Amino acid sequence: MTQVKRLLSFSRPYTLRFGVAILLMAAVGACEGLTALLIKPVFDRLLDPRADSTPILLFQFPWGGHLYLQDLLPARVHHVWAMVAVTLIGVTLVKGLAEFFATYFVNFIGHSVVRDLRNLLYTRIIRQSISFFTQNSTGRLMSAITSDIEKIQNAVSQVAADFLKQSFTLVGLLAVVFYVDWQLALVSMLLIPFVVFPAARLGQRIRISSRSSQDKMAEMNNVLQETFTGIRIVKGFVMEVFEVEKFRAATRRLLKINMRWVSAHALTSPLMEFLGAVTIAVLLLYARNAIIHHAQTTGGFIAFLYALIKMYEPIKRLTGVNNSFQQAVGASEQVFQYLDIHSEVHEKPQSAELPPFHNEIAFEDVGFEYEDGPPLLQNVNLRIGRGEVVAIVGSSGAGKTTLANLIPRFFDVTRGRIVIDGHDIRDVKLSSLRNQIALVTQETILFNDSVFNNICYGRNVQNEKEVLGAAQTALADEFIAEMAHGYQTVIGERGQRLSGGQRQRIAIARALYKNAPVLILDEATSELDAESELLVQKALNNLMAGRTVVVIAHRLSTVRRANRIVVLDRGTISEIGTHEDLVNRGGIYQRLHDLQFVDAEP
Ligand SMILES: Nc1ncnc2c1ncn2[C@@H]1O[C@H](COP(=O)(O)OP(=O)(O)OP(=O)(O)O)[C@@H](O)[C@H]1O
Ligand SMILES: [Mg+2]
Repeated sequence: MTQVKRLLSFSRPYTLRFGVAILLMAAVGACEGLTALLIKPVFDRLLDPRADSTPILLFQFPWGGHLYLQDLLPARVHHVWAMVAVTLIGVTLVKGLAEFFATYFVNFIGHSVVRDLRNLLYTRIIRQSISFFTQNSTGRLMSAITSDIEKIQNAVSQVAADFLKQSFTLVGLLAVVFYVDWQLALVSMLLIPFVVFPAARLGQRIRISSRSSQDKMAEMNNVLQETFTGIRIVKGFVMEVFEVEKFRAATRRLLKINMRWVSAHALTSPLMEFLGAVTIAVLLLYARNAIIHHAQTTGGFIAFLYALIKMYEPIKRLTGVNNSFQQAVGASEQVFQYLDIHSEVHEKPQSAELPPFHNEIAFEDVGFEYEDGPPLLQNVNLRIGRGEVVAIVGSSGAGKTTLANLIPRFFDVTRGRIVIDGHDIRDVKLSSLRNQIALVTQETILFNDSVFNNICYGRNVQNEKEVLGAAQTALADEFIAEMAHGYQTVIGERGQRLSGGQRQRIAIARALYKNAPVLILDEATSELDAESELLVQKALNNLMAGRTVVVIAHRLSTVRRANRIVVLDRGTISEIGTHEDLVNRGGIYQRLHDLQFVDAEP
């Protein structure tokens, strides 16, 4: 129930509109009832050759008042036909207008709530620390923001609109039924479960089978995806027949489930009609007696039947509403769970700005482990002076990327501290820390946007001259100029339309444009051809010039440029020194150098 309360709290800003919508829906229900009431005079007076012009009684209030049709109309309209016709058209018009605006308002509220919830969720998620994203798959997060929230939208807009309309309609019709003939109404109420119960059961079957149809569809998609992406292996191992058989089995299961859905769906309407006919037949028996004994008029009975049959739709809808509502509650549970997670890396309240970097970055006895992981970094002590280039080398999995990630606080150290110019980085504003660090990651990350916007990513002030300058320094301006729309060319999802070397140079241009004093560079390990390799290296040299650099080095040229080399081995620093110091020392660096860099030696 707390979920529901919380969900409702999102609609609070729209209370007024919601109130109006309720009033309008009540009007819809009243109009439905009025339409049913109109049927009685149609049959008793209008279609009766003995019809006279005495006032037409629409409703007799329990406290003695009377509502005549004449009361609702201007005096000029006095013929029975005119009265009925004008009222019928008028009521339908009012009902239509009320229903339109009510549906509009309720859906407006629903979609607005969904927009608010989506915005809030995205804002919260994007502020989470990196570890959150490694623990929650992209697919899961996307489906929380898209389909989970869509289910909530279903509940708040469609279901709420339906719920209001159908409940008021039901109330209106019930009032008519009981007003016209309360005894017959009581008998009918006893019969209704015989119609509604089988309908509800069928509805349940339809829902279950449509859900499992989705599951089977997902199974089938899985086979497709696996085999298409792994097509070379399928062909290489001559497994086409095997895969086709797997696919056929999946489609067979899908067919079976779909037919279960079809049979339940196709049965609904005939069954309802049959049960409805049985009900009416029973009622006819009663009505015949009542009409003969003048306890009921023909028009009264037809109005009664009309209202009764009309009640079927609201009842059916209202039983379905609960199901959508439950789904929405389930979905909101997921969504709220994400809203409630606090980012592991967070700013202390009233933290100060980190002043512009001027002296040194110090790792003081730093230890780090990933959640549920073994200790990864231990006793790391390292001072990086301003303007220094420090290369970090070590075998794959030694913890190099992890070490670099600690500086912009992608993760927080679990022991010791990192201090920049005397400030523990956990005590300063995150933005003031990260604004001073430029990043070039191991995998190049670009966005599906123009080259220009990729280069000035993260800066609100866009200076065209500086963007061109950055591209030039990154040796990217030439190939950009050759592209179809130059700097305005959109580079496709993750920059797929560029070569590996071009992507890297755009990423370098982006770091150059940011012009931050500290640079963290995780050199890409991917192979480039000799020419692009040379260009990328030159671009990197331009980027490193005049900055304080922590570079995770995979290239000999980078290592040679470094003022100091830090060798990381199983989470601890095993050697520190210049290339010349370390290369003949007989330690890990020498081994790494011989293994890793020897081929690259120019
Ligand atoms: N998000 C994470 N959660 C848990 N463990 C992780 C995570 N990221 C990395 N690791 C583990 O930490 C260890 C060090 O990883 P890291 O990425 O720092 O290595 P690396 O030295 O950069 O290696 P490479 O040269 O291959 O890039 C690895 O054993 C890895 O499995
Ligand atoms: Mg790495």
